[in-house]
Amino acid sequence: MKPTEELKHEHKAIKMMLGIMGKIAENIQNGKDVEVNDVKDIVNFLKTFADKCHHGKEENVLFPALLATGIPSENGPIGVMLYEHTQGRAYIQTMHDGAESWKNHDTASAQLIANAMLNYRTLMQNHILKEENVLFVLADQRLSAPKQEEILAKFEQIEEEVVGHGIHEKFHELLDQLKVKYID
Ligand SMILES: [Fe+2]
Ligand SMILES: [Fe+2]
Repeated sequence: MKPTEELKHEHKAIKMMLGIMGKIAENIQNGKDVEVNDVKDIVNFLKTFADKCHHGKEENVLFPALLATGIPSENGPIGVMLYEHTQGRAYIQTMHDGAESWKNHDTASAQLIANAMLNYRTLMQNHILKEENVLFVLADQRLSAPKQEEILAKFEQIEEEVVGHGIHEKFHELLDQLKVKYID
């Protein structure tokens, strides 16, 4: 497996969560009450799976390896990706704050959560497209086979140190549960 294939596999899980978030935001906008525990689970997924693990692999391993092949950092595609990760963190924080302050029938916090979810979804949908169509293509072309092996080993280390295998499984279970509840 290539490093970019592993990242694309994680994009699939993230895109599934974006679909669920779109549905939850729609429910909120249609006046349904917030199921705050689901929002808290989603914030936890985004913080750990999407940001610490997935963006950690990109920021700490893949992007530096690409910079070393001569791709410019400032004003280049990697700078844009890093900026978008930062924007995403701000939306996650808003969802977190909205869920913490939310009480029954609190429409202000509910709107905050719905807007942050929709903004995060749009940001990440475009972000993932750019990575898969531009940056990952460059990575496949420019990184030698031994370099790709080295990157995969570092990804494995991040999985174990940052996330832990049991927790990864739990996130996939959460995704399945929310998919059944909101999408199927
Ligand atoms: Fe990214
Ligand atoms: Fe990504």
